[in-house]
Amino acid sequence: MGIMRTLDVTEVLNRQRSSELKRRLSGRDLVGFGVGIIIGTGIFTLAGVEAKSHAGPSVTLSFVIGAVVAGLAALCYAELASSVPTAGSAYTYAFATLGEVFAWIIGWDLLLEFALGAAVVSRGWSGYLANLLGLPPSLFGEDAVVNIGAVVIIAVLTVVAVLGIRQSSMVTNALVIVKVTVCVLVIGVGAFFVKAANLTPFVPPARPSGDTESALHQPVVQAALGLEQSVYGLAGMLTAAAVVFFAYTGFEALANLGEETRNPTRDLRIGILGALGVCAVLYIGVSLVLTGMVPFTDIDEGAPLADAFSSVGQHWVSALISLGAVTGLTSVMMVELVTIGRIGYAMGRDGLLPKPLGTVHPRWGTPHRMTIGGAALIAALAAFVPISELSDMVSIGALSAMIIVAVAVPVLRRKRPDLERPFRVPFSPVLPIIAALACFYLMLNLDVLTWLRFAAWLLLGMIIYVAYGRRHSRLAAEERKKSLK
Ligand code: ALA
Repeated sequence: MGIMRTLDVTEVLNRQRSSELKRRLSGRDLVGFGVGIIIGTGIFTLAGVEAKSHAGPSVTLSFVIGAVVAGLAALCYAELASSVPTAGSAYTYAFATLGEVFAWIIGWDLLLEFALGAAVVSRGWSGYLANLLGLPPSLFGEDAVVNIGAVVIIAVLTVVAVLGIRQSSMVTNALVIVKVTVCVLVIGVGAFFVKAANLTPFVPPARPSGDTESALHQPVVQAALGLEQSVYGLAGMLTAAAVVFFAYTGFEALANLGEETRNPTRDLRIGILGALGVCAVLYIGVSLVLTGMVPFTDIDEGAPLADAFSSVGQHWVSALISLGAVTGLTSVMMVELVTIGRIGYAMGRDGLLPKPLGTVHPRWGTPHRMTIGGAALIAALAAFVPISELSDMVSIGALSAMIIVAVAVPVLRRKRPDLERPFRVPFSPVLPIIAALACFYLMLNLDVLTWLRFAAWLLLGMIIYVAYGRRHSRLAAEERKKSLK
């Protein structure tokens, strides 16, 4: 069997029944967590940046494409999460269907997504806070030698994440109410300042980018086909769709809360599909209003939304947007920290990471060591490295995990047709295959540098697996025991 050994689904189900994690979350809490992790830098910053640099007003269509691809993947996640609720989500699904080495790669990949996501967002948070309160950029901005703001926020949220899932959920819900209100306000007030002229033509004609900087910044699909680098037009809209996909990433985190949800068979799918639906509607509205208010060539890349409202004299909305961004980004980091703990818990339980890392605290009921260890790494990264441009790494990590999840749906149906499936993806295997292809197509629209970095991360993962996980895996130990008998 070796590295292709798989976990028995019945065992996964039994394990989650005897889980040490505490069942404290309702469907509403899950929607809160979902919106909490989804709405963040993607809409507050990337929407404006991509409208200006790649898509013009058609960035709204990029968000529609993102919603469709994320929606397809979410259906696959919803089926697996409601039939096999577990702390490891995609990692465990891959373990039960494709084999240990795939599971490890996906777990490693998810750790990249959430750790890097938290590091990127903590620096963005620090910048917004400095803006809001007039704090010194030398300590809180991108140029800071040590970004104090990023380190402090990660430390504070780690304490909450370690103290308990209820505490994390309460903090997240409160933050979510603020940021959703701000998005609704942007749409409601901004609609009065939309000018049709700014939205025409909706898809600006394609033109050469003139970016001679480096072929590394070209989308991999254009590089592979030997096309000239261009912006706007259909290709620009697709490039923007791949980049703003970052805005949708995070809903998969909910699939990790299967062992902490009171009624996982019902509530997980409500959480995943509900949270994504709410965010898609808000994103499409906000991006339409933004590009309708300001000619796309004049969009401010630092704080696009706040600047749009200042430019039409609505300074009060502008201040509220900064507040919304600060609270919004806080909840993204909160849920990311919670998720890292759960993935570590699942991987430690299977012996692919050192077991002590994944142990659950007897009183708090949280995987405290993994949460603190992950947070320490994130804080170190966020303190010293200007990593805002690494958001594409989060997208490529999320998209590749989604491909595995989509493939796992028909594989698990064939392997375990008897399994109770409270939610079923319609038209399987056609829809899961379309989901996987759509995710892959978006990945192809990310740039060459992102692919190279991703390959380096996977290589590092494989080295760790060969040196540690393969031998320490619980299934490897069981295999050895059997062969001795
Ligand atoms: N989806 C999250 C964001 O947009 C990561 O910040």
